[in-house]
Amino acid sequence: MITTHYLVIGSGVAGLTFAVKIAEKFPNKTVTIVTKSNEDESNTKYAQGGVAVVLNTEDDSFQKHIQDTLIAGDGLCDTAVVNMVVKEGPKRFKELITWGANFDVNSEGNFDLGKEGGHSEYRVVHHKDITGYEVERALLQRVHQLENITVLPHHFAVDIITEHHLKEKKSSHLSCYGAYVLNERNNEIIIIQAQHTLLASGGIGNVYGHTTNPIIATGDGIAMAYRAKALIKDMEFVQFHPTVLYNQEQGSSFLISEAVRGFGAYLRNKKGERFMLAYDERAELASRDIVSQSIDKELKKSGDSHVFLDCTHLEVASFKKHFPNIYQKCIDLHIDISKDWIPVVPASHYLCGGIVVDTNGKTSIKNLFACGEVSRTGLHGANRLASNSLLEALVYAHNVHRFLAKKDTNFSPVLIPDWNDKGTLINEEHILIQHNLKELQALMRDYVGIVRSNQRLKKALKKLDVIYTEVEELYKTSKLNTALCELRNMINVAYLIINQSLERKENKGGYFNVDNN
Ligand code: FAD
Ligand code: SIN
Repeated sequence: MITTHYLVIGSGVAGLTFAVKIAEKFPNKTVTIVTKSNEDESNTKYAQGGVAVVLNTEDDSFQKHIQDTLIAGDGLCDTAVVNMVVKEGPKRFKELITWGANFDVNSEGNFDLGKEGGHSEYRVVHHKDITGYEVERALLQRVHQLENITVLPHHFAVDIITEHHLKEKKSSHLSCYGAYVLNERNNEIIIIQAQHTLLASGGIGNVYGHTTNPIIATGDGIAMAYRAKALIKDMEFVQFHPTVLYNQEQGSSFLISEAVRGFGAYLRNKKGERFMLAYDERAELASRDIVSQSIDKELKKSGDSHVFLDCTHLEVASFKKHFPNIYQKCIDLHIDISKDWIPVVPASHYLCGGIVVDTNGKTSIKNLFACGEVSRTGLHGANRLASNSLLEALVYAHNVHRFLAKKDTNFSPVLIPDWNDKGTLINEEHILIQHNLKELQALMRDYVGIVRSNQRLKKALKKLDVIYTEVEELYKTSKLNTALCELRNMINVAYLIINQSLERKENKGGYFNVDNN
């Protein structure tokens, strides 16, 4: 058993920022970060566009950023949260710079500001088109400078520990005491007991087969919190990114940043028509929900598999300077952006809902906090404004730290029973997990996609029940492994998405059901 003051589950921008801040605040307290893959593997690492933050107060203002966020969220944002996050943004961004993150500057030495869908001004700070990579690099570098932080890569959090697990119940209220964690190197399950636990385990992209997310994004944190009976909300608001490089394979797909449309690229259908003009006066720079739904309509009308992003009118040298990674990816695929259109299609990208937290990142379970994509703060409402996610993670990591910094109480460990895997066997049939995963992803694509209907959602629930029963049986009889736990978690997440979709009776932002008006 490991005992630590602060257990952080996840090593993306949310987990690392919190870890740095709390470790700096309390050099005599221990911070343990568990992360299921290599320490840098995360959605954060792949973020392209940047961080939305108001720095240029000549043209831009907090009020404009607040307004853009509220419009994108389609009436469902928490206005107080939006105000708080937007106004905190510049301070938190500057902190990132003190930890060594570099952002592009223009010839006058000011931050080079990009624009993305739904933004009325240029306000997205970035590091070329690999902003997330740079943020992750800088944060990990700072983490390794702090002696009171331990990072445990290849450690998979299986379940958070609550009253349900204790022999002697501490109270009638639910509290979190840490987590059961699978050491992926030796397949042993250890107890990590913690005074405070932060879920910073990111998104759910892989619940859908076609996603911008890396394979780690399997909704583990949401599933763990759900099983522990934490409050989960807004799961119907899955954000589909409009412009993901089209390929016929399932799995993680390469993103063509929205900043490319901010740079002037056009969306065209196969006939060459700039169809977005017919859907929204902001055309290609309408918010993400509108662009994805419009592409979906175009594809249904034409029967085509994808649309195109046309960059041929843009200045190539400048494109290359701003988007070297995207440019190179296209070259690798024999797409010359000066002549060829880039084939693109929407794919699952981000979850606006998640574990309900207050402005201090507190969940409905005592001593359990959540931050980053796993959480539902009220910032995004029905649709997240581009580049508001890194911002949200930075602000909430700070808020959780600030709350805990005031709570310097003694830690009295409790007796936690070992993980009970009596009667389980090593399951050699990995194929069963793969088979069920493919079925799950197909059902989410076919029945719970950009456009939903009550009939499809109900069918999806029935089909999910069959997969659920089979996987639960496997879970109860097998020695645990990451793939099985992830599949079980994705089933929990799919269940939440479908059920909360059925509960929503009004179309809003990223949620569109043909049976609603
Ligand atoms: P993550 O960065 O995903 O980190 C989660 C961590 O938890 C990972 O280390 C993971 O391995 C770990 N983990 C998960 N489950 C477990 C478990 N069971 N046990 C242990 N560890 C676990 N947002 C923006 O604001 N601007 C952008 O430009 C932008 N571009 C994007 C581009 C792409 C391709 C993608 C995929 C997303 C983009 N986003 C962007 C969204 C943004 O990157 C993410 O929402 C954000 O980085 C999430 O940070 P996080 O720390 O919450 O989660
Ligand atoms: C992008 O660069 O298009 C992604 C930005 C985001 O998800 O906020």
